[in-house]
Amino acid sequence: MDITILEDLLEFIGRSKPDIIIHTAAFTDVDAAESEKNKAYKVNVLGTRNVTLAASKVKAPIVYISTDYIFDGEKKRGLL
Ligand SMILES: NC(=O)c1ccc[n+]([C@@H]2O[C@H](COP(=O)([O-])OP(=O)(O)OC[C@H]3O[C@@H](n4cnc5c(N)ncnc54)[C@H](OP(=O)(O)O)[C@@H]3O)[C@@H](O)[C@H]2O)c1
Repeated sequence: MDITILEDLLEFIGRSKPDIIIHTAAFTDVDAAESEKNKAYKVNVLGTRNVTLAASKVKAPIVYISTDYIFDGEKKRGLL
């Protein structure tokens, strides 16, 4: 499914009631993201927000893979 369509996510997650959601959908072309900022934002920010909204409806934890562009592995605690 397209994670940018909230209704589809809510319907699918609500129906399948997952114990956990591993969210790997992303706009990952970092060079294209510089020139296609709206598209990258739509998928990576708004799409991920949609995944969190759908997950919260069924109280499913999300695994989301970050990158060493953001986290260098030196931090000693989580982000909570
Ligand atoms: N691979 C790495 O070394 C690495 C390192 C650090 C972090 N990560 C993170 O891990 C996650 C997965 O990376 P990856 O390497 O598997 O990337 P990838 O091969 O580019 O896969 C991304 C997937 O997301 C899908 N996608 C894009 N837009 C979508 C949308 N609107 N709705 C649903 N699916 C959509 C793509 O489908 P289409 O092909 O059909 O567009 C593709 O299957 C990303 O968050 C990435 O930042 C990866």
